[in-house]
Amino acid sequence: MKIYIADYSGFCFGVKRAVGILENMVKNGEEAYTLGPIIHNPQVVEYFTQKGIKPIELNDLDSERKRNVVIRTHGIEPGLEKLLKDKGINVIDATCPFVKRVHKIAEEISKKGLMLIIIGEKDHPEVIGIKGHCFGKCVVVENKSEAEKVDNFDKAAVVVQTTQTQENVDKIMEILNQKGEIVEFYNTRCDATAKRQDAAKKLAKMVDVMLVIGGKNSANTNKLAVICEKEGARVYHIET
Ligand code: F3S
Repeated sequence: MKIYIADYSGFCFGVKRAVGILENMVKNGEEAYTLGPIIHNPQVVEYFTQKGIKPIELNDLDSERKRNVVIRTHGIEPGLEKLLKDKGINVIDATCPFVKRVHKIAEEISKKGLMLIIIGEKDHPEVIGIKGHCFGKCVVVENKSEAEKVDNFDKAAVVVQTTQTQENVDKIMEILNQKGEIVEFYNTRCDATAKRQDAAKKLAKMVDVMLVIGGKNSANTNKLAVICEKEGARVYHIET
């Protein structure tokens, strides 16, 4: 029997970095909360909980005693960061640098007085964070039909949620280009997800069985399993 490991398997750069930050805290004996689970992997979350770093929701923060709070890779809006600091909390920022870059772009666009269009999912923490860095007019567009509902504009700039597919971005941009002049377009997609999906697809074509290892509650892992199934491989999604 031959076993192949798909290219790019494992954590993306941003998650690896965030987990590394927690590992360092553990090494230094520091306790903390993460604002929501650090990743969608129950074993990793449990591992850190045992070491004194556990997920918490914002509303429960006041009743707890630990003063270190880690921000996840998705990032947060400046208003929330201020709120945490005003509570006397020590904020440890594990926001992915690729997301940080989008925050900066959103601020620059606002400074220029341009309307910002974010291509992404309205309720996703990453998009809420990006929106919070924009202090001018801002619109979030999730799909083609939402793009059609955007009012005509003179000038606008566009950024993209890091996990969007190029296909969705293209469809939305085609419509937005008819609504007004897009003077600045930043394709801020991160290709980590796409690269993993392509590699899994390629490998699934070659093998009899695919073992997709990851959290059952992870959208990314579930998607990899579906992609492999579509290629005709017998798929086992394994969490432990
Ligand atoms: Fe991962 Fe950062 Fe990309 S968290 S998916 S490397 S935006």
